[in-house]
Amino acid sequence: MESLTLRASPSTAAPLRRVPGRRHAAVSVRASTGAGEPDLSVRVNGLKMPNPFVIGSGPPGTNYTVMKRAFDEGWGGVIAKTVSLDAEKVINVTPRYARLRADPNGSTKSRIIGWQNIELISDRPLETMLNEFKQLKKEYPDRILIGSIMEEYNKAAWHELIERVEESGVVTFPYVYLGAFLDALEINFSCPHGMPERKMGAAVGQDCDLLEEVCGWINEKATVPVWAKMTPNITDITKPARISLKSGCEGVSAINTIMSVMGINLKTLRPEPCVEGYSTPGGYSARAVHPIALAKVMQIARMMKEEFADGQSLSAIGGVETGNDAAEFILLGADTVQVCTGVMMHGYGLVKKLCAELQDFMRQHNFSSIEDFRGASLPYFTTHTDLVHRQREAINQRKAIRKGLESDKDWTGDGFVKETESMETCRAHKLFHVNIKSGSLGFGISGLDLVKPRDFKSLLDRVPEQSVQTSIVQVLYFETRK
Ligand SMILES: Cc1cc2nc3c(=O)[nH]c(=O)nc-3n(C[C@H](O)[C@H](O)[C@H](O)COP(=O)(O)O)c2cc1C
Repeated sequence: MESLTLRASPSTAAPLRRVPGRRHAAVSVRASTGAGEPDLSVRVNGLKMPNPFVIGSGPPGTNYTVMKRAFDEGWGGVIAKTVSLDAEKVINVTPRYARLRADPNGSTKSRIIGWQNIELISDRPLETMLNEFKQLKKEYPDRILIGSIMEEYNKAAWHELIERVEESGVVTFPYVYLGAFLDALEINFSCPHGMPERKMGAAVGQDCDLLEEVCGWINEKATVPVWAKMTPNITDITKPARISLKSGCEGVSAINTIMSVMGINLKTLRPEPCVEGYSTPGGYSARAVHPIALAKVMQIARMMKEEFADGQSLSAIGGVETGNDAAEFILLGADTVQVCTGVMMHGYGLVKKLCAELQDFMRQHNFSSIEDFRGASLPYFTTHTDLVHRQREAINQRKAIRKGLESDKDWTGDGFVKETESMETCRAHKLFHVNIKSGSLGFGISGLDLVKPRDFKSLLDRVPEQSVQTSIVQVLYFETRK
């Protein structure tokens, strides 16, 4: 009997080997043809999820009780709090969170917009965490459980950790599944604070040479899909993302927290969060980081679309609290959307609101599945130089329309009526400008509304171009009659 070591997933019958389960195909936006509820289910690296919402690594995935709660509430998947071989080396401090509120005076009633933490990875013994993963997979065999791991710069340590979290990925002929109880692994290359002296977390993610080497070690050992979690605290996030994918990772997650100092207490003159009078830079998350996360995800998605076409996946993270936040990430090309701080603020039930809001968005656009709009906004990013070029072209085109005919020799027989109209529009614009300046006249638009000159400009901005031209012609008529 032959014994094979393959990357297997307990949640899917099909992928017995570590095969990229999905595409990064060219963007296409398809409208729904059938009736019924929009379908939120996604398939990523061979893993099927009921919706794209995944608990991001952190306190919401820190033990059996909370992960079970996440499954019960309906999260598409759970990424557990990061574990390492020796939890005794992980020593947390309190306070370790600091929150920024929308109200400048910090009123506790105002919305939390930013969240800083100086929390380390899990301080719970690895064996305890592994037993809890096993228990969860036993109770929820068809749900997606992803382990998050981090180790020192040491090949043997990484291999031991992977072996232990996967337990065994051995599949025997004829494919009787014996092992792995985690569906995938996310590698924490991105924790911005704590343990850089041990070359852990962002210390690896910020150094492309180290990253390539460590990714190599991980990918020669792992038998389930591997996602590399990126730090945003780097000039060009596409570099580590590219290296991770080239080194064999099936996916990229982005972003982890952004290096931050929450503030200085102006009474005590000490930085916050303050531990025995001192502090250390932490990681920023929540609503405030969402625009930065969008930019980083967009950069990675563009790079993946250009350079990888082999089913590598992208998991977007950062400041998600609404279905619309998630829709934005998916429009940039994300397959899944992770939420960490949002759960700490709103609880596990948040997933129901996220799903309902995402479905509302899909209904508005007549999208029947996530694939219908994934990546649809990506082609509309370009360089600033290109924006200048496009705007110059557009202005020239508008000028050309206004200009009408330059000389009598340009009149044609076939286009005579249109040529005449183009001249009318031209004169109407001039008249419009004169009257705006005079500031005294009212205009009749379509013979119905009376519009003051100062309102006319905003009206013009709102109506479609075709009706603007019609309106201008009518303004001309009104003025001529007077
Ligand atoms: C308190 C706290 C602890 C976190 N711990 C981890 C961790 O152990 N491993 C990890 O990969 N990311 C960790 N993160 C980062 C989150 O998974 C996520 O990448 C980041 O917070 C941005 O997403 P968010 O705005 O939804 O929180 C932590 C975040 C917070 C707020």
